Formats: sequence, structure tokens, C-alpha cells
Amino acid sequence: MKRIAITGAAGLVGTGLRAQLLKSGYRVLSLDIKPIQDIAAHEEAAVVDITDQAAMTQLLRGCDAVVHLAACTTDAPWPEQVRLSVEGCISVFDAARDAGVRRVVYASSHHVVGLHPRAPQGPLMGDTAILRPDSRYAVGKAFGESVGALYAYKYGMQVLSVRIGNVNTRPIDRRRLGSWLSWRDLGQLVAIGIEHPDIGFDIVYGISDAQGRHYDNATAYALGYVPQDSSEGWDEQILRDDPLPAPGSAAARAAAELTLGGQFSQSEYEGGTDRLLPGARGAA
Ligand SMILES: NC(=O)c1ccc[n+]([C@@H]2O[C@H](COP(=O)([O-])OP(=O)(O)OC[C@H]3O[C@@H](n4cnc5c(N)ncnc54)[C@H](O)[C@@H]3O)[C@@H](O)[C@H]2O)c1
Repeated sequence: MKRIAITGAAGLVGTGLRAQLLKSGYRVLSLDIKPIQDIAAHEEAAVVDITDQAAMTQLLRGCDAVVHLAACTTDAPWPEQVRLSVEGCISVFDAARDAGVRRVVYASSHHVVGLHPRAPQGPLMGDTAILRPDSRYAVGKAFGESVGALYAYKYGMQVLSVRIGNVNTRPIDRRRLGSWLSWRDLGQLVAIGIEHPDIGFDIVYGISDAQGRHYDNATAYALGYVPQDSSEGWDEQILRDDPLPAPGSAAARAAAELTLGGQFSQSEYEGGTDRLLPGARGAA
């Protein structure tokens, strides 16, 4: 039975993922700065700050993989991003390496490409899309992807970066029809990161079957991902609750409406949105 460490295990994604990995037969080591109350069978837990590399190294010894979730998960000011998503991320990768853990599944976010226009205004985003982070938060996530690539290509570790969309029990609005990730599909993608023999440094989108809405998840499919859940069938209800803004209106032209990143893109956005569109100067 493989032993898998999860950082940020007390959080939203961690709580759901622990259940998925336990159900799949893994032993889980749940790590968080907050104590975890509801420890299950085949689960151990420890309170640790991810920036404490020595403590992380001790804890990761004997693990087969680490799923790195802990990060700054809001668009907080830079010092908080740097402490958690930069220093914390380096600490976790170094601790894994020092502890002999060769596999890391890194929780990235679709917000690393959040300032791209959504299809059909923009192209579907694949794993080679030029980064357009939509926030300080997203820059922190993109940093972690670079660390993953460095440790995979330079040190031979196996790193799967999962650009998670929105993990939920169902798609919650029009934009997130294209970025919804169900709990069991999250579990499946993480298991691919733990098990697949050919992972080097790979990027997949953490979305259920919403292929063709915003993202081209060909790399995930090539690694054997077969999503169990689909956003298909939610359109009518969601478009009723979250209708399209009138064509040409200010709402339709807003960064929140045009882009993959939604409100993260809108927050602090300055000026018009023409520069985001394909064909604009500097646009990919
Ligand atoms: N929720 C989503 O749909 C979603 C979407 C895209 C990406 N993600 C990514 O998934 C990961 C988890 O997201 P979430 O929604 O569960 O966030 P969350 O804020 O609910 O959980 C984060 C957890 O990290 C822990 N943590 C914070 N600082 C820590 C430290 N110094 N040491 C140890 N633990 C610490 C927190 O206590 C918390 O339990 C994040 O990396 C996030 O960027 C989530």
C-alpha cells in the first residue's frame, strides 16, 4: 500500500482528496498547519508549517509521493504569496528530494492562463499555452510549475502539475461549466500523478469532461485520464441562472466576462480589454 503525503490536507481540496485517495487504497499522511480532527483508518496526520524544511523532510521520509496543495489561496499581497507559494513550495520540493520522494503532484491552477480570452474569442488552452497569470495568486502557482520543471528535468524527479479548475460537486456558473472538476476526477488525476510510469514533468488541466469548452486536455487523456463526470447537461440550468450579458454591453466587454480567470482577471484590471484579444499587439 503506497503512502502518500498531502500538504494543505485540512483545506477544501485536501479534505476531499484525502477521502478519494483512502478510497483508492492508499495510506495517507495528512499535513497541515492546522490540526486535522477527523483522521480516518489508514491515515496519519501531523501539524507542520511547509516553510519548515527540516520538519517536512523528516515527515516525508518513507512516502512514495507528495501531493502539494498548501499555498496562498487568495490574491493576498506579495509578501504572503512569496512566503507560502514561493518559499513554501521550494521547501516542499527540497524536502521531498532530501527525503528520497521522487514523485510530486503539484496543485497548480487554470488561473496561470487566466488572462487569455475564453473560447471562442480565444483558442483552447493546452499545456503549452503561454502563461498569462491573472493575479498575484496565479503568479505564485506559475512559480511552482517552474520549480516542478526544474526538479524534474534537472534532478530526475517525476512531477505532474494539475492546473485545477474549480473543484466542486457540480459546475457552479457559466464560466465554470468549462473548468469544473468533480471529486472523483480529481482523485483520478492525482492517482495518475502517483502511478504513471512515464511522468517526467507534465501539465494537465484539472477539469472533468468539459473538453472543448475552454481547455485542450490532450496530455491528460494521453496519460490515460478518463473523466467520470461531465459538465454536459448543465447548460440549460446554468444559462438560466447566469445568462449571457447583452452583446456589446460593458458587462460583455469586461475582463471578468471575456477571460478564463473571471473575477480574478477583473480584480484591479486597468483600461480596456482589447489588449487581451487574439491579434492584439503581443497577443499569442
Ligand atoms: N479549490 C479549488 O477549486 C482550486 C482551484 C485551483 C487550484 N487550487 C489549488 O489547490 C490547493 C488547495 O486549495 P484549497 O481550495 O483547498 O485551499 P484552502 O485554502 O482551503 O486550503 C489550503 C490549506 O493549506 C494550509 N496551509 C496554509 N499555510 C500553510 C503552511 N504554512 N503550512 C502548512 N499548511 C498550510 C491551510 O491551513 C489550508 O488547510 C491550492 O494550492 C490551490 O491553489 C484549488
